[in-house]
Amino acid sequence: HENQVIFSGIQPTGVPHIGNYLGALQQWVNLQSTARPSTKLLFSIVDWHAITKAQDPALLARRSRETLATLLAVGIDPERSVVFLQSSVPQHLELYWQLLCTATTWGGLSRMTSWKSKIGIPADSDPLDPISGKPPMGLFNYPVLQAADILIHRATHVPVGDDQSQHLELTRQLTTSFNHIYATTFTPPQTLLSPAKRIMSLTTPLSKMSKSDHNPLSRILITSPPAAITLALKAALTDSLNTITYSPLERPGVSNLLDLYSYFDPQQRTPAALAASCRGMGLGALKALVAEAVVEGLAPVRETYERVVGEDESSGGAFLRGVRERGGRRARDSAEETMVGVRRAMGF
Ligand code: ADP
Ligand code: NA
Repeated sequence: HENQVIFSGIQPTGVPHIGNYLGALQQWVNLQSTARPSTKLLFSIVDWHAITKAQDPALLARRSRETLATLLAVGIDPERSVVFLQSSVPQHLELYWQLLCTATTWGGLSRMTSWKSKIGIPADSDPLDPISGKPPMGLFNYPVLQAADILIHRATHVPVGDDQSQHLELTRQLTTSFNHIYATTFTPPQTLLSPAKRIMSLTTPLSKMSKSDHNPLSRILITSPPAAITLALKAALTDSLNTITYSPLERPGVSNLLDLYSYFDPQQRTPAALAASCRGMGLGALKALVAEAVVEGLAPVRETYERVVGEDESSGGAFLRGVRERGGRRARDSAEETMVGVRRAMGF
């Protein structure tokens, strides 16, 4: 049967936090190391998706570079996987338009909860963000671009967080409609839900850790230095019981710390087992242990990130440009192969 193709994307929002890392990037790296040699993997920095919000051009360029360095730092191998910027493959936009014109309905898109929630939250949006005023059509249409990102590389499997399930369902519907209208044979892609739990904010543990939280102590970045990791964990909101028990509903703060401890534990003990091993300890001692595990766990990521950025700077930007250009060429070849068939099927 057909070979597997794994595709996923990340927005160029700069250095990710440990929620993004555990919830998304680690799954990519695991897939890369467990996939059969015949499986093709593509990971895209989706900069066209980023402009559904207003972007400062210099900042967007910097964050795209940082995001690429991040992918290399967590262990994405640009030889094994095709790593590329979405904006270097114009075929994504070509297929987007074709899907938009033939298989997409206004009703289908207006049901997307991501759209419904975004138009309802003007309060904490960025000053540059036009969403607070008038939402751009790109924000409404972006699930169709996502469908094009996936189909253009004939992806069979798409690793995502649960917030993306509805978009993947839409992609499958668009795939079926498009195949029905034209003589195309796209395979509806399967969703690979990340197995990781949602990591909660360190300062408000009832909401998820997010880069848009105004309090920098609410999160740990994957390149945070040890002192910053220790500080954020020391300041983490827990509760007034000075015991260690794992109970996510009753004790969200402590349980989030135990989840983090478990994910970064070299012995991979469960949160409940770690709670048991901390019996008799106070919360301060737990925080110190979690900090130690997170610092250790992120050390190779931080070291690789610094090495990549250093190599890029000493080559005047040539190092990351080389990675980007090679990935772009491979991704364009992959996309063009699909588009030759699509154009023929549509009469172009
Ligand atoms: P943010 O909420 O910080 O803006 P994104 O929405 O850009 O993050 O998410 C990028 C990826 O990381 C998605 O696949 C999402 O499911 C995952 N992710 C984001 N935040 C968390 C979290 N706190 N815990 C687990 N996974 C997360
Ligand atoms: Na988000």
